[in-house]
Amino acid sequence: MSHGLFTRAEILRLTGGAGAAYLFSTAARAEQSGEKAAMQTRVIPSSGEKLPVIGVGTWQTFDVGADAAARKQLTQVLATLFDAGGSVIDSSPMYGTSEDVAGSLVADMGARSKAFLATKVWTRGREAGIHEINRSMQLLRAEKLDLLQVHNLLDWRIHLATLRDLKSKGRIRYLGVTHYTSSAYRELEAVMREQQLDFIQVNYSADDRAAEQRILPLAAERGMAVLINLPFGGGGLLRRLRAKPLPAWAGEIGCASWAQILLKFVIGHPAVTCVIPGTANPDHMRDNAAAGAGPFLDQAARQGIVAELT
Ligand SMILES: NC(=O)c1ccc[n+]([C@@H]2O[C@H](COP(=O)([O-])OP(=O)(O)OC[C@H]3O[C@@H](n4cnc5c(N)ncnc54)[C@H](OP(=O)(O)O)[C@@H]3O)[C@@H](O)[C@H]2O)c1
Repeated sequence: MSHGLFTRAEILRLTGGAGAAYLFSTAARAEQSGEKAAMQTRVIPSSGEKLPVIGVGTWQTFDVGADAAARKQLTQVLATLFDAGGSVIDSSPMYGTSEDVAGSLVADMGARSKAFLATKVWTRGREAGIHEINRSMQLLRAEKLDLLQVHNLLDWRIHLATLRDLKSKGRIRYLGVTHYTSSAYRELEAVMREQQLDFIQVNYSADDRAAEQRILPLAAERGMAVLINLPFGGGGLLRRLRAKPLPAWAGEIGCASWAQILLKFVIGHPAVTCVIPGTANPDHMRDNAAAGAGPFLDQAARQGIVAELT
């Protein structure tokens, strides 16, 4: 029987046969017993710590200030993330009230130990950077942050010196840099070659694959963990796909939505550690987190997804 692009036999071959069969059987078992399938993890190379592969981003989505109804909904987003075994929450002082909202919700939930809190420094100058980082720690209600990143490489040399100092003092666990566009990859690559970084964060999606050329292989070579931003192209890619029927083979790779297909594509890249789709919607968080269960897709299955989009 044909399933659009692939026959079932082809899917079994593309996903390594045993992998797909395993996926069907574990999904069926979990459904029967009411258990949830566990979220996959990837190792942070600089420490050996395992990180769950699906997190949440906070740009715009968590910038809700004192809006009680929105905060209640975001509490459900975080509860859904933690319940599914996820932990990474990515914020920035650039994101309005997001650090404050994420920090107060995590504190109110008593969930600090479940959260991997990542934020950024986004300013120029050493003193301004230190001031901003102290403020982020206050807003996030965290004396110690899990990850501090230089946002968009802004004044990176100055801030990385500060971050190394904070790491040596135990105030941050990991340090890194971020960007969101391929026009910055030349500079990002130079920083990755020169500096010892625990993490990079970069844009990558099934229809924006420039990071595959040099950035993701270099991260693997240099032993750097990778967070992925913009997995849905900021939402535009999902909106474009809304009218397109789900491929008949989606279920064969464990996906019930386009969001899951796009996330499975991203986390299937071996250099990727965790993807941080932004959402303010608990149902979307549940949808996204479910993409982290089941086996990783291999390269052939990932190419099948790219072909479906073009
Ligand atoms: N330079 C940098 O460091 C940088 C740059 C960009 C982004 N980031 C980080 O990366 C995160 C992710 O990027 P992003 O949030 O800009 O873009 P994105 O993750 O590609 O897309 C987010 C959009 O997708 C929607 N969405 C999420 N899950 C969905 C689902 N299951 N079904 C339907 N719609 C869904 C969200 O709307 P709903 O709220 O309705 O779900 C939101 O509008 C950011 O939040 C931020 O933390 C960092």
